Amino acid sequence: SLPNEFQGAVHIAVIGGTGLQKLDGYEPVAVVNPQTPWGYPSSPIHILKHNDTPIAFLSRHGDSHQHAPHEVPNRANIAALRHLGVRTVIAFSAVGSLQEEIKPRDFVVPDQVIDRTKGVRPFTFFEKGLVGHVGFADPFDAKIADVVKECAHALAGDGVVLHEKGTIICMEGPQFSTRAESHMYRSWGGSVINMSALPEAKLAREAEMAYQMICMATDYDCWKSTEDVDVAMVMSHMSANASNAKLLIGAVLDRLSHENNSDLVQGKHWVGVTTGFLKFV
Ligand code: ADE
Repeated sequence: SLPNEFQGAVHIAVIGGTGLQKLDGYEPVAVVNPQTPWGYPSSPIHILKHNDTPIAFLSRHGDSHQHAPHEVPNRANIAALRHLGVRTVIAFSAVGSLQEEIKPRDFVVPDQVIDRTKGVRPFTFFEKGLVGHVGFADPFDAKIADVVKECAHALAGDGVVLHEKGTIICMEGPQFSTRAESHMYRSWGGSVINMSALPEAKLAREAEMAYQMICMATDYDCWKSTEDVDVAMVMSHMSANASNAKLLIGAVLDRLSHENNSDLVQGKHWVGVTTGFLKFV
């Protein structure tokens, strides 16, 4: 279990997506697996230390990639992180590119999302008499995005290419899109496509956590050529660029860990009226 000094004191979390199932190179502190009213998280949560700051790492698809995107226990994940004290989430995701200039292995810091999930994933904490509405006009956190952009620019010499904004299409899956859908998403102004941004980002907003996704392109989906996306393509680009992903995360965690007690990381601008329901033991 979690040493006393870290109880409720873990403010920063990384959620790893496909190809980022663990975070090496940080001092392990503890592994916790809190049972929430919404069940257990995708995987036990690793508490790591960086610059004396505790950081939580959660593998979205589980330790052995056992949860398909539509099966990820998103409410348990967000509730468990919030329970640890997390107020800032950096969420990684492999994505398909819907734009020529976003090449496989490029990073994107999205600022918008279009919901193409099918309503079959539990998508809110507000139900069964607990009524709440949160703003979601800007689904990601601009201040955390700025930190990511600065870190990526400093790593340009290492070959990190980052696009400073973009719209994610979050589709249901697990099947990839048809060619007609892929062209439609481009006509909507979509930059990249994945299956994991939602409801994760919505639940993080309900739980009053600053949430920023970092996308890494692994394919051109199926709009561009006849070389259509498949899982092998996604995995091969992910592993080829894992070193850059780790460099970028390392730089972001460096910055955030130094800001551990600041408003930036602790989300003190939030009023805290909606999160009483997230308290559990
Ligand atoms: N994740 C990675 N590539 C993808 C694609 N083309 N469509 C949906 N999710 C993806």
